[in-house]
Amino acid sequence: MKHQLRKIVFPTAGLGTRFLPATKASPKEMLTIVDKPLIQYGVEEALAAGMDEIIMVTGRGKRAIEDHFDISAELEANLKAAGKEALYQEVSRVARMAEVIYVRQKQALGLGHAVSCAAHWVGDEPFGVVLADELIIAEKPVMQQLREVFEKTGRSVIGLMRVPMEMVSRYGVVAAVEENDLLRLTDMVEKPQPADAPSDLAIIGRYIFTPRLFELLEETKPGKGGEIQLTDAVARLAKEEPVYGVLIEGNRFDAGNPMGFLMANAELGARHPQFGGEFSNFLRNLLQNN
Ligand code: G1P
Repeated sequence: MKHQLRKIVFPTAGLGTRFLPATKASPKEMLTIVDKPLIQYGVEEALAAGMDEIIMVTGRGKRAIEDHFDISAELEANLKAAGKEALYQEVSRVARMAEVIYVRQKQALGLGHAVSCAAHWVGDEPFGVVLADELIIAEKPVMQQLREVFEKTGRSVIGLMRVPMEMVSRYGVVAAVEENDLLRLTDMVEKPQPADAPSDLAIIGRYIFTPRLFELLEETKPGKGGEIQLTDAVARLAKEEPVYGVLIEGNRFDAGNPMGFLMANAELGARHPQFGGEFSNFLRNLLQNN
């Protein structure tokens, strides 16, 4: 296994059923938080952590993602001609920020299956995985927080957060023991009922894996919901070799559902350098009058 960590997989083939009808004709990854689509936040987080070889696992109806990271010569020429320099700079920056490979997941067989679609393009190297509908605002990008543990250990690393026990059934949940100042994961269960959950430590959609995971994914049978679950393959990996957990620092929003999406827009809107002040005043007035 090569030790460099450059590759990053974005599973983006999901149907987005939690956000219908908004996601009927456009991908949930293109939902806009303030002025950027969700997927761009994820890509910027990966780039900030030095992972710049991007493998996007897409499906039907996801063309808008490809167009977003592509060069639009016409748009760029129009912006330039109209003297809209700042917009021109931003649009051309997005189109050139990373090399992206698009791989098609032909059937929606689950998150584990989506990740395995990237195997050929990752090869025998460690790689990251980001679920872009989990938007995490952090001083140190979360993938960098994970990377630091990977650099120390050379092992797989998973981002975690504590959640209220009544919420565990929405997540993969881990069992962990402390080992030399790190959290070593001993087991994990996909979306357990609170009574069956090994802890309140939830998986939040940020991962770094050794390539052994791909072989285990090949052998993983459908689990929860009849889907090939990433969590099941990682649970097997953790029995074979150390897998570490990182309690991540940051504000996390599940922006793939309307509530989390609204909260992410409110928080990033209120912080926005250009119109944060005006938006905060608007929010204050709104609250006072309701
Ligand atoms: C997926 C994973 C789950 C993880 C969650 C984080 O579930 O299977 O382990 O906790 O992402 O968002 P999904 O939300 O795609 O059903």
